[in-house]
This record gives sequence, C-alpha cells and structure tokens, in this order.
Amino acid sequence: MADSSNSKFSLNGSEVAVTASADTPLLYVLTDELHLLGPRFGCGLAQCGSCSVLVDGVEVRSCVTPLSAITGKTVTTLEGLPALHAASKGLAKVPEFTPLQQALIDTQAIQCGYCTNGIQIKATELLAKNPSPSEQEIRTAMNGHLCRCGTYPKIITAIEQAARSMRGKA
Ligand code: FES
Ligand code: FES
Repeated sequence: MADSSNSKFSLNGSEVAVTASADTPLLYVLTDELHLLGPRFGCGLAQCGSCSVLVDGVEVRSCVTPLSAITGKTVTTLEGLPALHAASKGLAKVPEFTPLQQALIDTQAIQCGYCTNGIQIKATELLAKNPSPSEQEIRTAMNGHLCRCGTYPKIITAIEQAARSMRGKA
C-alpha cells in the first residue's frame, strides 16, 4: 500500500492538505476525503465527463487523474463555480447561481442530473476561452460529455443563453 501523501492544492479558493496516497484518483480525494458532492463517479474510465473538475482552468477527468498530478495546482469543482464567476466579473457578492446554472434551470436542461456537473465544468471552460461560441463550437466542446437523458438540445440552448447573459445581452 502506498504511503499517504500530505499533498496540498488550492480547492475552490482555499488551500487544502490531504492524506490520500499520491496515486489516488482525484475524484476519490474530493468525494471521500473532502466530502464534496459535485463531481460524480460515472464510468471511471474518462469516458462520460460526470467527474470533471477544472485544474488551472482546464477541464480534467478526476476519475483518472492521480492526486500527484494536481499537487500545488488550483482545482475548481461545481461548488466553486459561483465564486469563480464572481471573481472573473469583479462582482462584490457571490451569486447563488452562475448565469450558466440559471440558464440550465430556465431551459429545463437538468433531468436526472447525472451529467450536470461535467456539463457545467466544460461549459465554464469554454465560455472563459470563447465568450461568444457558435452552436458548432458548443457541440464540439461538449462532445465528450454523455447525457443519458438526451437533453443535448436544451444543454446547447442553455450555454447559448448563458453566453448572452455573460456578455450583457440576456
Ligand atoms: S467518471 Fe470520470 S469520465 Fe466518467
Ligand atoms: S440530465 Fe440525466 S444524464 Fe444528463
């Protein structure tokens, strides 16, 4: 059995230290040691996207990312998205929902919720890089995220709505 790591990284704006071994998948660290509920176990094979988190602003599949790979880096999970949005826009107050979360609610793109974590993480990455994505650019970005409820058209509509809202053209 591997030794515990005492790894440190930034999680949703706070420094954390964890004791899991260095080869432990980040997903297990986030759920079992840090008790977060946003990232979810789906396939465990980097295929579905339900476990996604942002590492230094880039989406990674936490089910196949060892703890050793994120030591000293900045991790943002679903729980940290409102604060990330507030920081990116210079808002004085952290909103209850991000524009994307509000859009997902408005469009009823959330059914069982299995995919919703990864959808938000990937769309957040996309909108940070491209504030005005075309439908095709959204489709391409979301290609690796599986929605077993088949709400893809509503997810695309929600991302388009969020992009307009974040550009001040809601
Ligand atoms: S659980 Fe990580 S990609 Fe499916
Ligand atoms: S809402 Fe059920 S998997 Fe996407």
